Amino acid sequence: MLEGGPERRARITQDIMDRTGIDEAMIERLVSLFYQRVQLDPIIGPVFAARIDDWPAHIRKLCAFWSSVALMSGRYHGAPMQVHMSLPINDAHFDRWLDLFEQTANELCPPAAAAHFIERARRIGDSFEMGIAAQQGMVRGARHQTERPDLMRPLMPDDAAQ
Ligand code: HEM
Repeated sequence: MLEGGPERRARITQDIMDRTGIDEAMIERLVSLFYQRVQLDPIIGPVFAARIDDWPAHIRKLCAFWSSVALMSGRYHGAPMQVHMSLPINDAHFDRWLDLFEQTANELCPPAAAAHFIERARRIGDSFEMGIAAQQGMVRGARHQTERPDLMRPLMPDDAAQ
C-alpha cells in the first residue's frame, strides 16, 4: 500500500502531471481514439464486439482505469486480470492491442506522456499474459517490458494490498 494517504497521492499525481503533461483531458482523447481504432481492427475488434454492448460506458470505465494507472488518481476499482482470463485471447491479440495503443499514444501525446502510458500498458499486458499462463499451469516471462522487469512495481496503489 502506498503510505502517506491522500496528500501524498495528490503530490504524486501533480508530479506526474508536471513531468509528463498528462491530464484527464489527454486520457479521454487517448482512450476515445484508441477504442475507435480497436472497434475497426480485424484482429481484436471482434473480441470486443462480442462482449461490449455499451461503448460509452466502457470508455468511461477505461478513462477511470487509465487515470488510476497513469496519474495514480484511484478512480478505478475493478479486477481487470479476472476479466482477461475469461477472454478468448492469445499473444497475437496482445501484440495487436499494444501496437494500436502505442501508435495512438505516440500520435496524440507529447513524448514524455506517450512513454509513460506505453511503459504501463506493456507492463499490464505482460502481467495479463503471465496471469493467463499461470491459470493454465504454465510459467512465462514478460514479453513487452523494456525496462527493469526485475523491479515489478504494483500497477496501482490498491493492488499492493490484494
Ligand atoms: C494489453 C493491455 C490491456 C489493458 C491495459 C486492458 C485493460 C482493460 C480494462 C481495465 C478493462 C475493464 C475491466 C473491468 O471490467 O473492470 C478491459 C476490458 C476488456 N478488455 Fe482489455 N486490456 C488489455 C488487453 C486486452 C486485449 C489484448 C483484449 C482482446 C483483444 C482485451 C479485451 C477486452 C474486453 C473484450 C474487455 C471487456 C470485457 C467485458 O466487460 O466483458 N483487452 N480491458
